Amino acid sequence: MRKFCVLVSGGGTNLQSLIDSVQRGEIQGQICGVISSRPGVYALERAEKAGIPTQVIRRKEYADAQAYDLAMRDAIKATGAEFVVLAGFLSIIGPQTLRAYPNAIINIHPALLPSFGGKGYYGLHVHEAVLNAGVKITGATVHFVDEGTDTGPIIAQGAAEVKPGDTPEVLQARVMEIEHRLLPQAVGLMAQDRLQVDGRQVYIKEEQI
Ligand code: GRF
Repeated sequence: MRKFCVLVSGGGTNLQSLIDSVQRGEIQGQICGVISSRPGVYALERAEKAGIPTQVIRRKEYADAQAYDLAMRDAIKATGAEFVVLAGFLSIIGPQTLRAYPNAIINIHPALLPSFGGKGYYGLHVHEAVLNAGVKITGATVHFVDEGTDTGPIIAQGAAEVKPGDTPEVLQARVMEIEHRLLPQAVGLMAQDRLQVDGRQVYIKEEQI
């Protein structure tokens, strides 16, 4: 049973999909902690209701990015996590944390990377850009986190149609339905240690019977 911690910053709907998937036995793993970049967010309530230990680590409470990075790395280690899931997490994962968890930090992004990813592409901004670009298909991407922003090897993607008259909010809701299926599937594979990274490629290893 692999342990993983989940980093959040907001409403926590992706965290909830992981909690529910673990409780249904679809993810053979244990959420050993939830760390939020902000206090008072609903994701923390979701974790507390599920009996998962929570803590808040705020960038502004640290003198500089390096101190924040070390505090985040040590907090994750203290949960006993073997891998980390960023679920609506809006802060930065620093080099020391990355070094402690090579190809072991997973992120969910609400677009089909590499399109509509990178600095400034988060939350509704992503869907606004999709609509402004006039593309007909969008979706969600689960990927490993590397030193860039939304640039690590892609684990899984799911597509969603962009429909005439879509607003950013309507499109976000449609993409989130994809996210809430895609992330648990990817985390389930990670919990079974079935993801193998080879350069930019991520392969799914056969299930060990
Ligand atoms: C989601 O769209 C997710 O893709 C993005 O943050 C948004 C909020 O996620 N990373 P949640 O409801 O806090 O899980």
